[in-house]
Amino acid sequence: MHLQLDNHGPKHEQLARSLRQAIRSGQFQSGSKLPSTRMLSENLGLSRNTVLRAYEQLRIERLGVMREGSGTYVSDVPLPHGPVMQPRRVEAQSAYAARLRDLPPLTLGGAGPALRYDLQYGAPLVNTKLVSAWSSALATAAARTNTGYPHPQGLPELRESISRFLATWRGVAADPRDIVIVSGTQQALSLVSRILLDPGATAAMEDPYYELASHCLRAHGADVVGVRTDEDGLVVDELPSCARLVHVTPSHQFPSGRTMSLSRRQQLLRFAEEHSSWIFEDDYDGELSYSARPIPALRSLDTGDRVVYVGSFSKMMFPSLRLAYVVCPAGLRKDLVRAKMLEDMGCPAIEQAAMHLLFSRGSFDRHLRATVLELRRRRSALFAGLERHAAGRIQADDSRLGMHVIGWLPDFDTPRLDRLMESARQQGLGLHPIHPYYREPPPRLGLLLGFAGLFPRQIDAATKILGDCLQALP
Ligand SMILES: Cc1ncc(COP(=O)(O)O)c(C=O)c1O
Repeated sequence: MHLQLDNHGPKHEQLARSLRQAIRSGQFQSGSKLPSTRMLSENLGLSRNTVLRAYEQLRIERLGVMREGSGTYVSDVPLPHGPVMQPRRVEAQSAYAARLRDLPPLTLGGAGPALRYDLQYGAPLVNTKLVSAWSSALATAAARTNTGYPHPQGLPELRESISRFLATWRGVAADPRDIVIVSGTQQALSLVSRILLDPGATAAMEDPYYELASHCLRAHGADVVGVRTDEDGLVVDELPSCARLVHVTPSHQFPSGRTMSLSRRQQLLRFAEEHSSWIFEDDYDGELSYSARPIPALRSLDTGDRVVYVGSFSKMMFPSLRLAYVVCPAGLRKDLVRAKMLEDMGCPAIEQAAMHLLFSRGSFDRHLRATVLELRRRRSALFAGLERHAAGRIQADDSRLGMHVIGWLPDFDTPRLDRLMESARQQGLGLHPIHPYYREPPPRLGLLLGFAGLFPRQIDAATKILGDCLQALP
């Protein structure tokens, strides 16, 4: 509480002026309780009577209301607005800020207007069983967890759980000492850029690409080069030899959905060894596979220790958790842990302990299997709906993995795609194009169809609207 008297006029008027100012500036907000008269008189060295008179003045002005036996509260009446301060234009104060200002707006997963159905990529699968398992783990963790600073590299028990999980689910043998827990793939890339890339260094990315990764590398000052992908994934022959870092999504190319073939994986690993470059493997949804034999991560083939592997709990759990893990080449571990330490001194301990509890109670494996089953149901509903309502008008690409499917639109040009999205929007359906994520324009236009956030019957209704809109297009 900062109240200052201005030594002009009687004390009760000085205090009333100071309180009025504090209310108008928002220091005391509408509905909040003002300090007790006793407290104010002790703190400011005034008599109780002086304070009472000042409060009486506020009541007369309708800035304060007295509640019997409880005290004086700031009124709910809207306060007159003071002069609106025009935000002053400030030049970018650093090269980093200048690069931030140069970035185009993000389009992926942006919150648009609320619609009845939205085939938005990135919407999480809400699961009531997970909510109760997570709440219980969180409560136990909160009661038990040490309140000191967390280990900057991540809770050792959680790193062990993740190491076992990676061996079973992703074919990756990871020593817990090489695992670093971070707050999301996004932070992993930011820290990895810092320890591997000087401004101006070349970072190669797949084309099409993950927008948030591209923004992160560009903001860091990297020279980001897009490299073509085909049916087999990244065309390694076209990688610039100066690439210090190659960002890839080999299990499920984002957003095209392709899986990188074994021969390309081997070629990429050879490239990294020959050119002393590093590979950033973004394995964002590799566990969510609908095949009997999911494809192991690229890192599982990496005998030269050139792959920085990153897995995330955003898809397996939910994105607001902000937890992910890096399996770090041994030679980079110290640098990465230091960078993490300086960044935020470690991820929140209670969430990490709760995640470990989910693993040790077996709930995480159960949850993940249930998630895959439910996603399979929703994906089947999407395919069935497209077949029922839009057969021949849209070609769905089946990647047998993850939470999205690409629907290619044969013979579409951009104005026609815009008309389709507009008519769908008018009928309460959100559609999202794929072409913004291509550096080179794609050979055909298409939609990024995220299906995780809708129930099967909603997916059917959404595909019905899509089919009707496609049919009605001239
Ligand atoms: C390609 C890709 N990588 C990574 C992620 C996860 O990022 P994070 O762990 O920062 O939530 C996503 C989530 O949508 C993604 O689409």
